[in-house]
Amino acid sequence: MKLSISGLNSFYGRAHILFDVGFEIGEGEVVALLGRNGAGKSTTFRSIVGLVAQRRGQILFEGVDVSREATYEIARRGLGYVPEDRRVFTELTVEENLEVGRQPPRAGAPTWTPEKLFALFPNLGEMRGRLGGRMSGGEQQMLTISRTLMGNPSLVLLDEPSEGLAPKIVEQMADAILSMKREGLSVVLSEQNLHFARLISDRAYIIEKGRIRFSGTIAELEANPDIRDAYLSV
Ligand SMILES: Nc1ncnc2c1ncn2[C@@H]1O[C@H](COP(=O)(O)OP(=O)(O)OP(=O)(O)O)[C@@H](O)[C@H]1O
Ligand SMILES: [Mg+2]
Repeated sequence: MKLSISGLNSFYGRAHILFDVGFEIGEGEVVALLGRNGAGKSTTFRSIVGLVAQRRGQILFEGVDVSREATYEIARRGLGYVPEDRRVFTELTVEENLEVGRQPPRAGAPTWTPEKLFALFPNLGEMRGRLGGRMSGGEQQMLTISRTLMGNPSLVLLDEPSEGLAPKIVEQMADAILSMKREGLSVVLSEQNLHFARLISDRAYIIEKGRIRFSGTIAELEANPDIRDAYLSV
């Protein structure tokens, strides 16, 4: 397994948010973590990369327990994370933003260059010199993902990559994620509904009130409208 989570419990202060969350991502898989507003998707991702101080459970990345490691150590192992609040450097250009993320090539992970990323996200290629602060939300989202890929991760956590994107841009995002998969990258994405996730995911988990409620293929989920209606917004 590329990433294996078990018994994950997370807290904000005295509020218990995640309850024994567990899931697995195989090498090169695209897996969706589905759930409504407030279900615990972002908390799960933040817990995996060490951004939730109060957590317990096992997080195995490439077979190594990283549950006690600092966020920068986990990143250095090749686990990339794109938070839901797209944070670009507003005073830097597209190309400069990408340079900020540049890391040496990593064995067992695809190597990215600005040119390769501009092929993935043609919009970005047309605005290399533009300041981050002068880009649309969708463009910033693409830039944030691209900057993370410049670190040559072997797995990325994408927190709601389609959120707030215009329909045309949503298609581009789906194509880009499929290209990442073709390069050999493992991808975990969080989503509120099925429409985007079904385009690209091999499998899905549903989280609700901090608990995993479903695990299976997208086809299995679509064959189970009761589960979908109970836990997802459609
Ligand atoms: N910093 C925080 N302090 C206290 N509670 C928080 C904090 N962040 C999130 N929560 C709570 O934890 C729960 C899970 O939130 P989380 O952000 O993980 O959900 P989500 O599935 O990512 O939702 P969304 O789709 O809206 O992004 C919610 O009840 C939320 O109110
Ligand atoms: Mg969230």
